[in-house]
Amino acid sequence: MRILVLNGPNLNMLGIREKHIYGTQTYDDLTDEILDLCEKEQITVEVIQSNHEGELVDQIQQAYFNDTDAIVINPAAYTHTSVAILDALKAVNLPTVEVHLSDVSQREDFRQISYAGMACEKTIMGKGFAGYTEAILYLKAKYQK
Ligand code: DQA
Repeated sequence: MRILVLNGPNLNMLGIREKHIYGTQTYDDLTDEILDLCEKEQITVEVIQSNHEGELVDQIQQAYFNDTDAIVINPAAYTHTSVAILDALKAVNLPTVEVHLSDVSQREDFRQISYAGMACEKTIMGKGFAGYTEAILYLKAKYQK
């Protein structure tokens, strides 16, 4: 099984940015955790982070052409603004889980809309790095061929 884990803007700043919200672990720590899990679960995984909306759209489109089975996406701030990412997810029509480290439902009003979430079959929020593990294991259980 092949999964794309796609992370949006400022997630490369984990461990530096707003530690009271996002914790002290770094983006490399997150990547290591995902790679270890996927090795153990025999999942082929690509973990990609970009600060650029168009790059995230390109990566979603690429997932279709390289036979990716499912996507885990944390679009970060683009969650709340990007119709382009929503349209890309709808275009490829791959099973997708949305993950947020923080519990966005308890945060500012402007975070209450998720465009990407409209194309996702499940949303996991407020569980930190464990949210990615839960998303990957959910997709494996449901879609592994
Ligand atoms: C986030 C929540 C978003 O509102 C925010 O813009 C982020 C991170 C999260 O993982 O909690 O950058 O997606």
